[in-house]
Amino acid sequence: MRDATPGTVFLEDYQAPSYLINRTELHFELGEEDTILTSRLYLLRAVPDDVPLQLHGQELELLQLSVDNEPLDAAAYQVTDDYLLIHKLPEQCVLTCKTRIKPQDNSSLEGLYKSHSMFCTQCEAEGFRKITYYLDRPDVMSVFTVTIDADAGRYPVLLSNGNLLEATALDNNRHRVQWHDPFPKPSYLFALVAGDLQHIEDSFRTAGGRDVTLRIYVEPKDIGKCDYAMDALKRSMRWDEEVFGREYDLDIFNIVAVDDFNMGAMENKSLNIFNSSCVLAHPDITTDAGYQRIEAIVAHEYFHNWSGNRVTCRDWFQLSLKEGFTVFRDAEFSSDMGSRTVKRVEDVSMLRSAQFAEDAGPMAHPVRPESYIEINNFYTLTVYEKGAEVVRMIHTLLGAEKFRAGSDLYFSRHDGQAVTCEDFLLAMEDASGMDLGQFRRWYAQAGTPVLSVADSYDAEAQTYTLEVSQRCPATPGQAEKQPFVIPLAMGLLGDAGNLPVKLAGEEPDHDTDDNTHRVLIIDREQQQFVFEGVQEHPVPSLLRGFSAPVRLEYNYDRDALCQLMSRDGDGFVRWDSGQTLALQVISEVQAQLSRGEAAAVDPLLTGAFTRLLEDESLDPAMVAEMLALPGEGYLAEQAGEGAADVDLIHRARQRVKQAIGEAAEQVLLARYHGLASDEAYQPVGEQIARRALRNSCLDYLACANPAHLALASEQLASAGNMTDRLAALKTLAFHAEEADWTQPLADFYQDWRHETLVVNQWLQLQAAMPDAGALERVRGLMEHPDFDLRNPNKVRSLVGGFAGQNPVNFHRADGAGYRLLADVIAQLNSINPQIASRLLAPLTRWRFYVGRQELMRGELQRLAELPELSPDVYEVVTKSLQ
Ligand code: PHE
Ligand code: ZN
Repeated sequence: MRDATPGTVFLEDYQAPSYLINRTELHFELGEEDTILTSRLYLLRAVPDDVPLQLHGQELELLQLSVDNEPLDAAAYQVTDDYLLIHKLPEQCVLTCKTRIKPQDNSSLEGLYKSHSMFCTQCEAEGFRKITYYLDRPDVMSVFTVTIDADAGRYPVLLSNGNLLEATALDNNRHRVQWHDPFPKPSYLFALVAGDLQHIEDSFRTAGGRDVTLRIYVEPKDIGKCDYAMDALKRSMRWDEEVFGREYDLDIFNIVAVDDFNMGAMENKSLNIFNSSCVLAHPDITTDAGYQRIEAIVAHEYFHNWSGNRVTCRDWFQLSLKEGFTVFRDAEFSSDMGSRTVKRVEDVSMLRSAQFAEDAGPMAHPVRPESYIEINNFYTLTVYEKGAEVVRMIHTLLGAEKFRAGSDLYFSRHDGQAVTCEDFLLAMEDASGMDLGQFRRWYAQAGTPVLSVADSYDAEAQTYTLEVSQRCPATPGQAEKQPFVIPLAMGLLGDAGNLPVKLAGEEPDHDTDDNTHRVLIIDREQQQFVFEGVQEHPVPSLLRGFSAPVRLEYNYDRDALCQLMSRDGDGFVRWDSGQTLALQVISEVQAQLSRGEAAAVDPLLTGAFTRLLEDESLDPAMVAEMLALPGEGYLAEQAGEGAADVDLIHRARQRVKQAIGEAAEQVLLARYHGLASDEAYQPVGEQIARRALRNSCLDYLACANPAHLALASEQLASAGNMTDRLAALKTLAFHAEEADWTQPLADFYQDWRHETLVVNQWLQLQAAMPDAGALERVRGLMEHPDFDLRNPNKVRSLVGGFAGQNPVNFHRADGAGYRLLADVIAQLNSINPQIASRLLAPLTRWRFYVGRQELMRGELQRLAELPELSPDVYEVVTKSLQ
């Protein structure tokens, strides 16, 4: 049903543009007071009627307007806050428009703005309209020529998309460059950078023999931190050729790092702009997780050159067309570069803790939303990560070969076009012969489906039966759901390992080399699967590899979980069984604590974890993942609406951690020492795995016995890289009662205050500390000279870290945590609405928290009543209060 909120945009209202812009010429005159932009748009009417041209434009000062070089009189056009409307244009004409903007005052970091002394742009989704009047929509694609004039001393480097045509000196110590991008593109892929930048350079020869110059531009302070991203870029380029058959298409590819950036990075054609936190790396300042993130994001943005740029989106409802597909592509890349199972576990844990929460909250929306007030609010985990899961399911259903054929067809059929999710599905269907009709519901229905499984074994007939049913909870605007198509990858575990799985009435499949694994297709509300020749009562291994983004319900007993955990053929299921076991034990301890009883932690869990540690044949990275208990946010989400008790969750989880630490103390110590190494730091899989497990041992040891905090102090003193240093510091800081943490934190700041990315980690660590003084500390740090409300990375580290990673303090019973967050959001609402809106997420989960609902709603209400609410904050606040 359509709601009538003003400002809502609906997918069903989509209309093709009535004008095309075949060519776009932009001339920027960058200045210290303002920037003057002259645009020449080569317009062509695309409809028979003489309709007015309605150009988007915000915060622009219009100086001149002419059509075919004739100035327009005032009666021929109208200017509003959001549009420039021009009447009676010839069918084909050149519109010249001169405007003034003030990048120096632009704190929204959208459009043209300044970051330190450099100019840069961010246009996705609708930022180009803050640069000039334009048809700022992705289905209007144009060939851009960009001329930039600027002071030669302050801005020696002037960049835009495509190829450099010329560079000339002008009077008054100014200079001019001209760039031309031969590929038609929508305005959201436009970029401009001007600054006093340094760069590193490398080159890449494509499979087709094109030599591409690769450059990474940074502020001079960061020139020593570019090498890793350059290597990651070359690996990405090679991988996309080998795995997707995609080659790079220009002679130059640039990356620029900026310190003030709303998101992670942006795929502007041949001029990717990165948040410096997602591209700069050095062992002194970057953790292992940071390195892996950089590799993934460099790849993600590069992959957009095909999935996003060569083939783009028709409208923003189709955002997942490029984002879901590109996240799938970058996840496959990371899996191939490192451990596939570890990557899968990381992605699933994030999906289940954060995307499932989104799906269960007031902002729940389908992968392809049907309406929005502010598109910036829809760059979500649902569009990105669930969208990637949907593509992954297509991959599972079609198989690798047909999926590749579908991808090839999609790219060749739609090269140079702006298309829809439907076009993607059609290409997949046409290339594979598979019918994805019902599968399309994944794009249209919001909410996380629940897959409920029951089983029975008939010893005499040697048959094993699975009863599978699906349902999906109601989400805003969608009360009833139709059944999804859910690929359920599974196996059966017997005493001696995985059993053959053969469905009754089915011929054995000689084509597959693995008869112990199969994918069941669940496409009705209720289905039954009978397996025959099952000689013992098996334990079902379900949802292998997390084959669908669903909640699985099956009544596992703890013995079965232990068996799966230690012996199943699927690495993901081994991890997931450990998580389920831990979840059960933590809930049991919660129940004990809430009854005022002493906690009794099931020795099955501590024993299983101890055995994991004892088995040195296991991949240390996997062991580290398996030892990581479900996070407090996930536990809250699992508790359900109105049932999450943050304090109890925290205490129970800590208690279980302590019990594991105590039970495994000897092996933890042995592994901690055994995994030490004096090799030179390298961000490579084998070393990363070792450090991850070693630091996880340290964490458990500190929980078991405060005496082991001495190990953390030693490690902090001797660490040769940021991974080990930060892990040690965190261990001390998270045991604030027993450890001396103030001095180490102060020393750390003194050592690293010149590195802004390290200062951010320092802020984040203090924001996440569970000690009782956290809130006052965070308020204090907001006054610290290194904090800056205008810098999104600082805000995310300190305020986002507090609200998102410090549940006990954010959810303080007196409501002070909520007040702090709302105070910051109120300020950011006018400074940077996108960041303000993103920070709201923890408050939108108010339904879950027992005893806190009124306080949380109260802050949302307070925000709702603010004057001049941005559409970004307005949308999230009002939807959350409904
Ligand atoms: N398109 C970017 C990406 O996913 C994300 C982004 C969106 C960046 C909007 C800036 C603004 O790669
Ligand atoms: Zn993307």
